[in-house]
Parts: sequence; structure tokens; C-alpha cells
Amino acid sequence: MRTVELANDVHMPVVGLGTAGLLGERGYAAVRSALDAGYRSIDTATAYRNEAEVGRALRDSGVDRSAVFVTTKLPPERAGHETAVLDASLRALGLEHLDLWLIHWPPRRRAAVATWEAFLAARAAGKVRAVGVSNYDLTQVDELTAATGVVPAVNQIPWSPRHHDPATLTASRERGVVVEGYSPLSGTNLADPALTAIARAHGVSAAQVVLRWHLHHGIVVIPKSGDAERQRTNLDLDGFALAPDELAAIDALTPK
Ligand SMILES: NC(=O)c1ccc[n+]([C@@H]2O[C@H](COP(=O)([O-])OP(=O)(O)OC[C@H]3O[C@@H](n4cnc5c(N)ncnc54)[C@H](OP(=O)(O)O)[C@@H]3O)[C@@H](O)[C@H]2O)c1
Repeated sequence: MRTVELANDVHMPVVGLGTAGLLGERGYAAVRSALDAGYRSIDTATAYRNEAEVGRALRDSGVDRSAVFVTTKLPPERAGHETAVLDASLRALGLEHLDLWLIHWPPRRRAAVATWEAFLAARAAGKVRAVGVSNYDLTQVDELTAATGVVPAVNQIPWSPRHHDPATLTASRERGVVVEGYSPLSGTNLADPALTAIARAHGVSAAQVVLRWHLHHGIVVIPKSGDAERQRTNLDLDGFALAPDELAAIDALTPK
């Protein structure tokens, strides 16, 4: 599994399983089949109400804990209660540490420096290996950095052919922030003729084309699927490469 190195020497797989909406036994089965298929990164959140199922699936899978990158997220309305929320996440997951903890949304639409300081304290205490944000704009990212000297390792934001924003990508990279794209498929018309033509040319699905396009742009991607076969193909992205004109055709699907 290819990985990207986060600022503090933590390695994050470039493809992970999104788990929003995968609840109860369906969630458990989805994480089990994903781990069987070779996924080594699982994205959950306190808000998804499936941390217990994710943790149980991880334990039952027999895959070594150290081989799997586990992300969860602080609900913004719990800002001020970071330690209690983190401890509840660790308990639910049955883990001693997270690989990545994100502020799910800017609390009260603010950068929330105090929350970021609590995240840094959790990292210093060894409860999380890396910390980052989600749904932050660059001004908010800069505010956290200016206040603490520590850049969020990751910003998890929507990214798809309908949401392609090269300026944000470049500016994030300049700051050392890894962009993790969410809703890669649900934000995309997989029947778009531009995508289906490229898919046909490579003998793959339109979903694989979209996910491969993310990787070409250096964006970590976390497609969600509860279906074992779609999970398998969503991870099978190394057998083909997109040509520059194909990348440009997909870039052009973003409304101007
Ligand atoms: N930080 C945030 O605020 C935030 C917000 C949204 C999402 N996320 C994260 O990002 C993850 C992914 O985003 P998402 O769940 O919104 O949507 P997504 O991964 O873009 O798309 C999921 C949808 O696409 C279908 N699908 C999956 N693989 C497919 C394939 N190969 N061909 C056709 N359809 C396919 C899935 O159905 P099946 O399950 O039936 O395959 C599901 O309906 C989430 O699960 C979550 O972990 C984070």
C-alpha cells in the first residue's frame, strides 16, 4: 500500500475506507471485508456512531494493529471537552492510540486554537500519532499554525471532479498540509461521458478512474463502500495510469 508521509514521520496510506453511514453489523462486515481486501486505513468519526464496530472488526480481522491507520474525528460541538471525547473514542475503538485525530468542522466556524492546543497535548501524551483538521479553509489553518507553530498534518475536505481546486491544493502543499479528499464518488456523476470514455480505454470502472485521478493529484482518498466487490476495485488503482490529456479532461469537469 502506497503511503504519504505526514509532517511528523507518520505514514498514511493513500487510499482508505470511508465509513460514514456504515452502521451496526453492516459497518462491522464492511470493515472486515475491507481489511480482507487489503485496506490498511479506516476513516471513522465520533459522529458516525460506528467506532465500536470499526474496533471490533479490526481486532477480529487478525491484521496487526500497527499495520492499520485509524482516523477518527472530534465533533465540533464537543470543543472544550477534547480529552473526554478522545478517551471515549479510544474506548469504543478498543485502541491505545489513534493514528490521526481530526477536528471534524471548525467549531462555531472558528479555527479554535484552544481545541488545537488540546490536540497537540493529546499527541504529546502519546494518545494520537498525528493531528489535523477537516473542512477548514486556509485562513483557519494559518491561524492554528500562527498560534502554536504546528501545522495541521492533514485537512480532510471534499474533493471530486466536481470539486477540484488546484489553488487550494498548491497552497496546502506549500504549508505542508496533506489534502485528504472526501466524497470522491458521491460528488461525481459516474455516468459522465468523459469518465466512461476514459474508463473504457483502460478497461476499468468510472469510479476507478476518479480515484486514480485523485492519486495523480497527490490527494489521499477515502471512498466508502459497503460492498466487498466495489471495495476491492476501489483499491485496485495501480494497474493503469491516466495520460495528461485524460487528467485535464477530468479536471475540466469542475464547474467554473
Ligand atoms: N470530514 C467530513 O466532513 C466528511 C464528510 C463526508 C464524508 N467523509 C468521509 O469520506 C468518506 C467518503 O465519502 P462519502 O461516504 O460521502 O461518499 P463516497 O465515498 O464518495 O461515495 C459513497 C457512495 O458511492 C457508492 N460507491 C462506492 N464505490 C463505488 C463504485 N466503485 N462504483 C459505484 N458506486 C460506488 C457507495 O455505495 P455502496 O456502499 O453501495 O458501494 C456510496 O453510495 C465517508 O465515508 C467519510 O469517511 C468525511
